Amino acid sequence: MTKFWKALSATALIAGSVLIGGVSMVSAEATKTDDGSVVAGKGAEFDEDEGKWFLESGDPTYRIKEDGTVDFLTYRGFQRYHAECHVCHGPEGVGSTYAPALIDSLKKLSYSDFIGVVASGRTVKFSNGELSVMPAFGDNVNVMCFLDGIYTYLKARSDGSLGRIGRPASKDPKPKAVGEAESACLDG
Ligand code: HEC
Repeated sequence: MTKFWKALSATALIAGSVLIGGVSMVSAEATKTDDGSVVAGKGAEFDEDEGKWFLESGDPTYRIKEDGTVDFLTYRGFQRYHAECHVCHGPEGVGSTYAPALIDSLKKLSYSDFIGVVASGRTVKFSNGELSVMPAFGDNVNVMCFLDGIYTYLKARSDGSLGRIGRPASKDPKPKAVGEAESACLDG
């Protein structure tokens, strides 16, 4: 797991440099399935081996049941977002005077672009000389070990599938695979 993140941050460093000019567009479409669940995009399936919901594209996604129960990963994302990101990006992704509203950013940022910016950071210099700095979190296990959840949480908020409700009232049980992956990543 550690090796994976190290490799990923190294790639992301390269990707990070080309990010500003060209973000790839992704669909913000959320679909309601027969059982009333809301998922992002089409063909979402639960991967038992990873304990995560994935789209056909391979990007992780959320699953919210009609009664508001969120998948475990997305719940984790809510927690980690409010531990690591909200001081700058505002509660529930709504933005602040200092940093952009990520619920808007995720309408256009792809999953891999999102991972790239968070791992590598980004500094933009405005014409008045002021710097806008997104720190690099590539070495921060408290972010990187939970980044898929932070992504699916923000994506659910961005798609309008999860309202500004604070902590989701109910969540699916923690899949064994998620617990194991978190421990391995944090220990690694
Ligand atoms: C110290 C403040 C700070 C913290 C903490 C922070 N960010 Fe940022 N972030 C920024 C700023 C400022 C920008 C805008 C950079 C720019 O001008 O391009 C930004 C940009 C971003 C972008 C790109 C948005 C876009 O529209 O292209 C993403 C994605 C992002 N941050 C995610 C996160 C996540 C996820 C976390 C928590 C793990 C986080 N940030 C924590 C300050 C912060």
